[in-house]
Amino acid sequence: MERKKILITGGAGFIGSHVVRRFVNNYPSYHIFNLDALTYAGNLENLKDIETASNYSFLHGNITDEDYIHSIFQKHQFDAVIHLAAESHVDRSITDPLAFAKTNILGTMVLLNEFKSLWKDNWKDKRFYHISTDEVYGTLGESGLFTENTSYDPNSPYSASKASSDHFVRAYGETYGLPYVITNCSNNYGQHQFPEKLIPLFINNILTDTPLPVYGDGNYTRDWLYVVDHAIAIDLVFHKGKNHETYNIGGFNEWKNIDLVNVLCAQMDEKLGREKGTAEKLITCVKDRPGHDLRYAIDASKINKELGWKPSVTFEEGLSITIDWYLNNADWLRNVTSGEYQNYYASTYKFRT
Ligand code: NAD
Ligand code: TYD
Repeated sequence: MERKKILITGGAGFIGSHVVRRFVNNYPSYHIFNLDALTYAGNLENLKDIETASNYSFLHGNITDEDYIHSIFQKHQFDAVIHLAAESHVDRSITDPLAFAKTNILGTMVLLNEFKSLWKDNWKDKRFYHISTDEVYGTLGESGLFTENTSYDPNSPYSASKASSDHFVRAYGETYGLPYVITNCSNNYGQHQFPEKLIPLFINNILTDTPLPVYGDGNYTRDWLYVVDHAIAIDLVFHKGKNHETYNIGGFNEWKNIDLVNVLCAQMDEKLGREKGTAEKLITCVKDRPGHDLRYAIDASKINKELGWKPSVTFEEGLSITIDWYLNNADWLRNVTSGEYQNYYASTYKFRT
């Protein structure tokens, strides 16, 4: 029997690499095609352990390149798409919003168009799974949770581009009958996350004795989820989620940034055998991010009730596994923080001190 062919986009990135690994290892009857442009955030080192698997192929290309995307859809006739490729960092979206519109909106449309052209006469057993973020809902006040019925109200160019892509996916479902499912997830952390996001950036700064730039007063709240638990949820939704539905995914795990940073500092001191309070001394409150959303928190009861998903590790466990991984993979961290990263860091943080 022919193997089911699944295109995963952005599989060399943080979350995508965990999804690719899970699908390659757990589903030998699928062939997994990982399409990635290998931007600064894509790194094939993240997939070293599975790169020679017989049910895995890497495709180097850009989702905005219509001719290239057309050619690979014609050649491989993908039965399903799991779409993670995106520009994903809010601070970069503030300095270069157009790059976010191109990849996140246009790139998603190019994929939708090809999927529609290929299967429009026979949608049976086909699926387009779009991975999105809770940031499309905008910000919460001190209380309340985002549900699947919360209105979209994005505040950053990143979240506006993701909101737009969600709308296009839904519109292709309504207009052309394209079978889709969308998930909106809260902040992820874990192995292989690029050190531009809060947790790996602060781990790297502690290791290099660099100030920890906390935006504003640090009283911003995020709901943190361990990346492997997100990959498990994606597997479940891909196989059991209902067409034309949205599911929220969250960690049931809210932290104010400043409290999270204090826990991170304490764990780092302990693991590095340093005196208590050493890392904490690096905390520096800096100028706030413009348009900074006060609080994100997910009501994940729908995916819990309908698909039986819940996070498998506590935050303390997940954070400990994550820190250990960065400590044991100093080469990975050194490689991704050399060269261009230094320019990014200097230009992003010079306005904030
Ligand atoms: P990431 O930045 O680590 O990885 C993105 C990947 O996409 C990289 O491998 C990059 O090379 C690739 N890519 C970027 N532009 C591309 C293009 N034009 N063509 C082909 N490939 C391209 O991102 P991530 O944190 O792993 O996020 C993955 C997805 O999950 C994104 O869609 C993001 O919006 C969503 N998401 C992320 C989080 C989070 O906390 N990181 C939370 C919820 C949802
Ligand atoms: P981030 O990891 O960029 O994720 P997002 O903005 O998508 O939630 O940031 C998480 C929180 O940490 C957010 O409130 C911004 C804050 N933050 C800092 O205080 N300092 C930093 O250097 C970074 C990158 C983020």
